[in-house]
Amino acid sequence: MSISQIARTISESATLKLNETAAILREKGDPVIHLGGGEPKSKVPVEAVVTTAGLLNTGEIRYTPADGIPALKKAIIRYTDEYYGRQVEPENVMASGGAKQAIMVCLQAILNPQEECLFPTPYWVSYPEMVKLCGAIPVPVTPEDGTFYPRLQDIEQRVSSYTKAVIINSPNNPTGAMYSEEFISDIVQFCEQKDLYLIMDDIYHRLIFEGRRPINCYKYAQNLDERSKLVVINGVSKQYAMTGFRIGWAVANKKLIEVMTNIQGHQTSGPSVVLQKAAVGAINGVQSSVDTLRLTLENNRNVMVDRLNSFEGVKLSPPDGTFYCFPDFSFYEKDSTKLAELLLKKVQVVTVPGVEFGLEGHLRLSYCGTIKDVTEGIERMKWALDPNSPNELYIGDRKLVRDWT
Ligand SMILES: Cc1ncc(COP(=O)(O)O)c(C=O)c1O
Repeated sequence: MSISQIARTISESATLKLNETAAILREKGDPVIHLGGGEPKSKVPVEAVVTTAGLLNTGEIRYTPADGIPALKKAIIRYTDEYYGRQVEPENVMASGGAKQAIMVCLQAILNPQEECLFPTPYWVSYPEMVKLCGAIPVPVTPEDGTFYPRLQDIEQRVSSYTKAVIINSPNNPTGAMYSEEFISDIVQFCEQKDLYLIMDDIYHRLIFEGRRPINCYKYAQNLDERSKLVVINGVSKQYAMTGFRIGWAVANKKLIEVMTNIQGHQTSGPSVVLQKAAVGAINGVQSSVDTLRLTLENNRNVMVDRLNSFEGVKLSPPDGTFYCFPDFSFYEKDSTKLAELLLKKVQVVTVPGVEFGLEGHLRLSYCGTIKDVTEGIERMKWALDPNSPNELYIGDRKLVRDWT
């Protein structure tokens, strides 16, 4: 079959594939525990359901402006004011089919073939593929000090005359690390000095623990007029547990939003009006579901970190936010794909290999499921890997006895 050169370079989304694998195994009746997922299990805010139902009841579901309905733009403007203290206009906002599409369209609007886009390692699985889809070159930057907290000097060293943009995702998928205020301030100012686009992927910015406050990148920008190359991405998927609604957005200078809207207009005509209405409901509604989710996640994180610390060979940097942690399992197995396969086969726990995020020897584990999933999942992993765990393990009423030492 003849396919394009770009298409040939694009790999399958590892995380979406794992979701499918877990679903297939569950359907077969296997007692799978899915620690690979990227979506909260809580219900969507009631306001999202009510506004959606209201529109559906009219029976009139039509096209919308490609950059989003006025009510959603208004809600995003209010959100930007509330969480960033920044006043923007409707022309600075584009709603999209998830934060994923907002980032993709933004990259298509700014990257020429062969130009480079930098992002710290470990990174969200889609960044390299999205950059490649533009014919451009992804440049992952690994912090030299071996931590999950990038330093400006690491990025500075990789910037070349081809560099066009930097993507920063904090708190971070897959590590849960929330980058320091100092780093955010440095990177904002550095990108301004070098005239680079800075895409702040803030999709997890309210899901942070121990009373931390979201960091506001605008605070450090010297230039916030219409020449600013700062792009802020957000969405309803994670904070409101609305992954299936597929609504995200970008806030940027008016010219860039105009170009992005032109691109999106030809690609999809914009997201569905039904789902945009739901997002309006969630953003304008009571925010207690976000607080409840954050507290649940913090509790789950504590349990997961506590259990992982009991492994002899696991090294762990406790997550500051999100619903992921990214422990180092290389003591047991350096090849993370092999390790994930072994865990699925032996104890039916789904994890995501670290190599998918650019860092071998690690696994991404999610704590967005139930506390039972977290405790049982880690217990099974411990049985499979750690000789200090009890010799026997029950999966349902099936008893497993360790056949290795
Ligand atoms: C870092 C990061 N950015 C963006 C997204 C995309 O979110 P959405 O569901 O709004 O497309 C995800 C989803 O997993 C993510 O982890």
